[in-house]
Amino acid sequence: MSSASGRRDLLRWLAAAPLAASVLGAGPPAWGRARGGRLPGVEKPLPDDAFTVRGTNAETRFPAFRGTGALTPRSLFFVRNHTRTPVLDERDWRLTLWGSGLRGRHPVHIGYGQLRSMPSVTLTAVIECAGNGRSLFTTQQGEQVSGTPWTMGAIGAARWRGVRLRDVLYRAGLAGSAVDVMPRGLDDEFTADGVSLGRVRRPLPVAKALDDVILAYEMNGEPLPYDHGFPVRVVVPSWIGIASVKWVGDIEVSDAPLASPWNTRFYRLFGPDHPPGGSAPLTRQTIKSALELPWDATLAAGERTRLTGRAWSAAAPVRGVEVSTDGGTRWRPARLHDVPRRHGWVRWSADWVPPRPGPVTLLSRATDRHGNVQPARAAHNTQGYLFDAVVRHPVTVV
Ligand code: MTE
Repeated sequence: MSSASGRRDLLRWLAAAPLAASVLGAGPPAWGRARGGRLPGVEKPLPDDAFTVRGTNAETRFPAFRGTGALTPRSLFFVRNHTRTPVLDERDWRLTLWGSGLRGRHPVHIGYGQLRSMPSVTLTAVIECAGNGRSLFTTQQGEQVSGTPWTMGAIGAARWRGVRLRDVLYRAGLAGSAVDVMPRGLDDEFTADGVSLGRVRRPLPVAKALDDVILAYEMNGEPLPYDHGFPVRVVVPSWIGIASVKWVGDIEVSDAPLASPWNTRFYRLFGPDHPPGGSAPLTRQTIKSALELPWDATLAAGERTRLTGRAWSAAAPVRGVEVSTDGGTRWRPARLHDVPRRHGWVRWSADWVPPRPGPVTLLSRATDRHGNVQPARAAHNTQGYLFDAVVRHPVTVV
């Protein structure tokens, strides 16, 4: 669509937003409440109507995206913390690059001011947890999985500004022999089953590091919030969220492959359908779409309802979204409200007049420009990563 007609479409669509009032949402489940909208270990408020708290993490309620733009406001962005948000001072912060993959083989330090004075780039990209949608393996496919039981809201899109990791690596003296780099966070060590696994860190192949990875210090035009990595985080476009290490303090640069629990024990596919030691470490995210509608919403029969949602794919821009209002028998195209772009997501809508009272399953299915289509079923793995199946969204028409 042209940008002028795109803007007109968008204005019309936003004008119809009060239709949301006809959607009666179910209240948040008691276990998902943060006391007084606060969660120890997370700095920002987590109001009940916007977040579901899951352990140390906060999932954005997908219906809360309705009416927001293509960029997720910082206040609404999901938080995935292995431990707790460290409140750091940029004046004390510096990045250390070290390891056998640097020509000088001695550590190189870059302060916050030095980083900010380097040429910057901006990049619009979603960050999405590898386990986003995990609970649907159980609720929709009847399969057991372990891990945080996210629904669809462990994702957000932002405009990141920062310095290309490539520029920082070259400045530090990247050797031709380097194969992996491993950013590490300054948050507390993570303990699993009583054993410390050290600080959050995960290797990245040099080829990806030199391609499109940035060290971001701004999110949607403002300094990063504490919870999202202040003063500096890694942003690895199209890869699973764990690659985008927050509060980065050092980067090991190595001339031999690196490993950490986050690419050996976690973030691989395990289970009967996968190799005994697990798949290769996960890299790219998958393709998804979801409705901005409460689960089990109540809709009025005979009244026009605007179904809205989002679709995204890590492989290529979204090409289209189809919607079914009869449990998957018939499909029709939804209208897209953003120009689909790589790394971002698109808003979509479809009008529907529920014909008669009763339970209905609503579905949406995204396709991308590489021909990837959401399948009816996601491939099971014991840790519930990469749920890409069409979501079966129950509503009741009254
Ligand atoms: N980086 C550090 N240092 N510590 C963390 O706990 N969580 C990772 C990643 N980077 C994490 C981290 C995971 S699993 C995800 S999905 C994203 O951060 C979440 O980013 P957000 O909290 O800004 O949404």
